[in-house]
Amino acid sequence: MTANTKRLHVITWGCQMNVYDSGRMQDVLAPLGYAPVDHPEGADMVILNTCHIRDKAAEKVFSELGRLRALKEARAAEGGRMILAVAGCVAQAEGEVILARAPYVDVVLGPQTYHRLPEMLARASRAAGAVIDADFPREDKFDHLPEPAANRGPTAFLTVQEGCDKFCTFCVVPYTRGVEQSRPVAAVLAEARRLVSLGAREITLLGQNVNAWHGAPGGLGELVKQLALIPGLARIRYTTSHPRDMDEGLIAAHRDVPQLMPFLHLPVQSGSDRVLAAMNRRHKAADYLRIVERLREARPDIALSSDFIVGHPGETEADFRATLKLVEDVGFAQAYSFKYSPRPGTPAAVAPGQIAEAEKEARLAELQALLRAQQAAFNADCVGRTVEVLFTGPGRHPGQIAGRSPWLQPVHAAGPASLIGHLARVKIAAAHPNSLAATLLDQEEHQQA
Ligand code: 5AD
Ligand code: SF4
Repeated sequence: MTANTKRLHVITWGCQMNVYDSGRMQDVLAPLGYAPVDHPEGADMVILNTCHIRDKAAEKVFSELGRLRALKEARAAEGGRMILAVAGCVAQAEGEVILARAPYVDVVLGPQTYHRLPEMLARASRAAGAVIDADFPREDKFDHLPEPAANRGPTAFLTVQEGCDKFCTFCVVPYTRGVEQSRPVAAVLAEARRLVSLGAREITLLGQNVNAWHGAPGGLGELVKQLALIPGLARIRYTTSHPRDMDEGLIAAHRDVPQLMPFLHLPVQSGSDRVLAAMNRRHKAADYLRIVERLREARPDIALSSDFIVGHPGETEADFRATLKLVEDVGFAQAYSFKYSPRPGTPAAVAPGQIAEAEKEARLAELQALLRAQQAAFNADCVGRTVEVLFTGPGRHPGQIAGRSPWLQPVHAAGPASLIGHLARVKIAAAHPNSLAATLLDQEEHQQA
């Protein structure tokens, strides 16, 4: 870090799309001399990349802003300036509110405008007031972003699709992230090749509705096939998918492309057709079960993950039992489950039949107990198996390295740091609730290599 380097601290909440966006904001700011730092103290710029999907998002942002305000004032007392930016979905949804409640914020930008950060920064440094840009601009931000610069390790995210037109009644995404848009296949392949040349062995394709990608004929299944031709790219994943867009081609890719990992996060939200209809999900429980069946025919070792919401307006005890039944029928390797949280501006927030908090809590506890048991069973089932792990970093204890199994389970093993960034075969020795312990098998080969 030279005397002219400016310190940039980014705080990221929410989904992997935000993690990706934070990386790209760092890329945009790098040519202006900003280098990432781990702490906000003394930073020249702090970006809060926010998430609006569930409860208390805005409150979290304001409490963090309060903390940062003190640091900003300390910086000013030293004759410096800390530029404070709020990005992401809270910025998109509540930009004006942020500026009213936290007038010391300098820049507010939505997820579609971070390629304009340099311009906004220039304006913010000139102006006394704040700069706000929560447009859905006509130009494509991806055409205005520099190529990924830094080597960010063996696993990389790559956004291929953004936005959502599905309008599930509970969800803010269609309002904060806008209409569905796909990046063209050539741009995606070029970025993927660059990530691999920078050391990525695994790429996770991202999108709010990633399997609705239509940047080339054949959809996401075709994209996966083309990505699989990139030498050095050992693993491909994609998230998050909608059941409606699980087409034949994508299911076939699970059969035909060995690099496509046997793990799929496919949110179902509920197992009750009545609730699914009220949620405007446009699929029934049986449709979901049929997709799972076809995926398992294509790739027998595929493991499933999902999202669930309990206590959506109108959900009865019988509806909730139908969700438990679907969970029993599928058998999930892991899952995320949430209490319904009314989001302002969404139809479900004003729907009749809102469920009492205590009821939501009781249902969530019951669902989570079942999902935890399924996850434990899935992990236990791995013990004794030989699996390939992509090692991504050091483990928690000295002499340990950690990585991920094909099914995205965290795996740790005693082994040399030289294996980080590489795939190695391990034997699973023990299962924990959220991770696996393993022993390296072909260590010697790797040390010679
Ligand atoms: N309340 C609770 N959970 C929600 N999700 C989205 N919106 C809400 C909400 N209003 C959950 C869904 C989605 C995941 C990302 O977050 O399960 O799939
Ligand atoms: Fe939200 Fe539904 Fe779109 Fe998923 S599919 S982002 S839950 S509206």
